[in-house]
Amino acid sequence: MIDFKYLAKKYSTPLYIYDFNHIKNQFTQMKDAFKARKSIISYAVKANSNLSLIKYLAKLGAGADCVSINEVKRALKAGVKNYNIIFSGVGKSDFEIEEAIELNILMINVESEAELDRVETISKILDKEARISIRVNPNIDAKTHPYISTGLHSSKFGVEIDVAKRMFIRAHNSQYLTPIGVHFHIGSQLTELEPILEASSIVADLVRNLKALKIDIKFFDIGGGIGIKYDDEKTIPPNNYAQIILSTLKGLDVTIICEPGRFIVGNSGYFLTKVLYEKVNGENSENRFVIVDGAMNDLLRPSLYNAYHKIELLDREENESKCNIVGPICESGDFFAKDITLPESKHNDLILIHSTGAYGFTMSSNYNSRPRVAEIAIVDGEDYLIRKREKFEDLIRDEIDFLDKL
Ligand code: LLP
Repeated sequence: MIDFKYLAKKYSTPLYIYDFNHIKNQFTQMKDAFKARKSIISYAVKANSNLSLIKYLAKLGAGADCVSINEVKRALKAGVKNYNIIFSGVGKSDFEIEEAIELNILMINVESEAELDRVETISKILDKEARISIRVNPNIDAKTHPYISTGLHSSKFGVEIDVAKRMFIRAHNSQYLTPIGVHFHIGSQLTELEPILEASSIVADLVRNLKALKIDIKFFDIGGGIGIKYDDEKTIPPNNYAQIILSTLKGLDVTIICEPGRFIVGNSGYFLTKVLYEKVNGENSENRFVIVDGAMNDLLRPSLYNAYHKIELLDREENESKCNIVGPICESGDFFAKDITLPESKHNDLILIHSTGAYGFTMSSNYNSRPRVAEIAIVDGEDYLIRKREKFEDLIRDEIDFLDKL
């Protein structure tokens, strides 16, 4: 049991709190699910990129899936082995490709023919081999929120299967490129197995085709995306997920790479915020607003995706009624929940927002000149500060006062 009241007193609010024991448990479950094969569980750093958290996973043997060169550097700094790091993304800049080649990571996941050209040109200039994988867009509806659905041709990600084949042949014939992997990621917060099975079958067939052409693909990267329970969703047990994937790989000697983000950290996280005020606007009691000290800049998912997060008012039970939980930001979109039932609250009461370990802090900003909040790790019941709360000085540190020089 985490003592949220104690943590609020010790570190103040708003606050992100992560249960590292839960993280370990999730990682181990995923690793075990694939034990029938060689596998790398490459944690998707974008979900939560705190160095201590990545380091903790690296010690458990995790790799890293990165979408910018700075994520690659975070992973390396946290102790992830270079040969367990993948660099994906539709828009890598030249300098990022260059550094990725220099840093000798496992592979650059290429997402277009134009990008393959750039990688080849850059590796030629550096006179250094670039190991690559190609991201296939299998044109499959992942049946998740449109903003986090990535496997259809209408989305910007990857290339269609025929283009991928052409790219593999080109890379195979290049002096500088070494194609070693194939990749797909059809979306995030996936709760259905069928689209995963379809995508994996299509991509496995591609690997068989390539084998016939003597192009030996060693890494079968299934992306991330396995969903978690925010509410009462039916989720996919890791063992079923692994079995479905493995069923498509008969006769193929490949290492599985899996890139879970949300599954590893999502349910480990809590966002703790404090009630400032309550008010009712106008006659309609449904216009009850509970105003808290956290805001959309700290946790954007409700505003951006209308995402549901379970919300609890700690230590109160009386006078329940419908309300909206809102923050201090000057936007009507600044809310954590609408129309939920909560007891009456008082100034300084604590509100706990669940399942905020993934895409919480990493999507936070300084909008309204709000400092980013502190982050706490809980390991075996002990609390550790893993990121300091920002101060006013941090917000203005990089600004340049040119007017003084006129
Ligand atoms: N691999 C690739 C190539 C990805 O694009 C992603 C997520 C992952 C792995 C990890 O997916 P996960 O296992 O965490 O579902 N901000 C959104 C989620 C965006 C996901 C982007 N890509 C949210 O808050 O729901």
